[in-house]
Amino acid sequence: MNIMKTLETKNGELLLGGASVSKLAKEYGTPLYLMDEEEIRANCLRYENAIRKYYRGEALVLYASKAFSCKAIYRTVRECGLGCDVVSGGELYTALAAGMEPERIFFHGNNKTETEIREALSAGVGRIVLDSAEELRTVDRVAAELGVRAAVSVRIKPGIDAHTHDFIATGKIDSKFGVALETGEAKAFIGEILQAKHTDLCGLHCHIGSQIFDTRPFVRAAEVMMAFMAELRESYGCTIGELNVGGGVGIRYLASHDPLTIEENVKNTALAVMEAAERFNYPLPRLCMEPGRSIVGDAGLTVYTVGSVKEIPGVRNYVSVDGGMTDNPRFALYEAAYEAVLPERPEAARDTVYTVAGRCCESGDILIRDIKLPKIRPGELLCVLSTGAYNYSMASNYNRVPRPPVVFIRNGAHRPVVRRETYADVMAKDLD
Ligand code: LLP
Repeated sequence: MNIMKTLETKNGELLLGGASVSKLAKEYGTPLYLMDEEEIRANCLRYENAIRKYYRGEALVLYASKAFSCKAIYRTVRECGLGCDVVSGGELYTALAAGMEPERIFFHGNNKTETEIREALSAGVGRIVLDSAEELRTVDRVAAELGVRAAVSVRIKPGIDAHTHDFIATGKIDSKFGVALETGEAKAFIGEILQAKHTDLCGLHCHIGSQIFDTRPFVRAAEVMMAFMAELRESYGCTIGELNVGGGVGIRYLASHDPLTIEENVKNTALAVMEAAERFNYPLPRLCMEPGRSIVGDAGLTVYTVGSVKEIPGVRNYVSVDGGMTDNPRFALYEAAYEAVLPERPEAARDTVYTVAGRCCESGDILIRDIKLPKIRPGELLCVLSTGAYNYSMASNYNRVPRPPVVFIRNGAHRPVVRRETYADVMAKDLD
């Protein structure tokens, strides 16, 4: 079972996007993030092609850049025709520096600062996705000060719990994001937006969760949102021209995972929106999607060097690597599961159970608990797979560990897109 589509074994060696993983580890050192740019582009095109094929209205795919943000990725997704979403001034700054057109940038966040709102409005971002009444007041005031109109959409909690696969109406009210549909909060809030003097309501938005394997909650969310748009037309006489259904499509971390294909999910969502539009006699809205993980997740892996191997008889075998929670905090945060491979002998029999631990002074610094691997020798390389999303972007300098570089591979050729941090980088902000 191939966990990552473009990972292959040739002559006993592991190749990502046609490049030898162990050769790259020698050249760039470890820990090292490798990302197959061709696969990132292929994922972008899977979204682009599916949405053009199945949706009859206008459409825009926005890469959710919290999954992996650096100048190179904004350039890559832009070249594939995508816009992006950002959730902070830092992501906005990077996207603009990389040449992303401001009108193709959507700005999210449950607590944007006034400074960030000013930066976004000055840059002329496509949408500010409003999250609260407080924020509306700030956006409207800052737009007036700058002499611009604020194009906004609204983050709605549609009351769908994607993780239990049970559409519990109250489940998602308990979220810090957005305004709730079923309490009437969303409707009242939209009434306020329609009254605002310097703000134009351009769309509605929802995002039901992440790493979702089932298409039904996406379809249900699209239906609920379309019904809400029809209700708003009835109450306020407004026709809203855009529906953004967020991200959330899951990827394969383990062989046992069975994710939706991008095409399948885009198709089902597009059909649901078109059917609802017909049912409510509503003009087809511009359909936006915001995939993050499903664009970059399965394009990346992390290469480590094994240091110590400790066998505690009858208890556990620990293998420690030269990275850990500083470059991948997802086990520590979510007990996320990963697959691993030894790139110098990918096909060796897996006969020993190990826990792969990081190098930080923290017992919770684990990458993988209880995985079967060949008997490991100190000094050899170990790859953790499918680390392209929410690894580099969530990395830290805990224990003053410098962050690894990111290298893009394209058809066997490679180029660094983020350099390795130095001790001087780690200390750069300290004042004497
Ligand atoms: N749009 C909005 C408004 C979001 O909040 C998110 C993710 C996305 C799009 C992209 O979702 P995706 O397609 O990547 O599932 N750090 C966590 C994931 C947090 C996701 C937060 N929002 C993790 O490592 O699993």
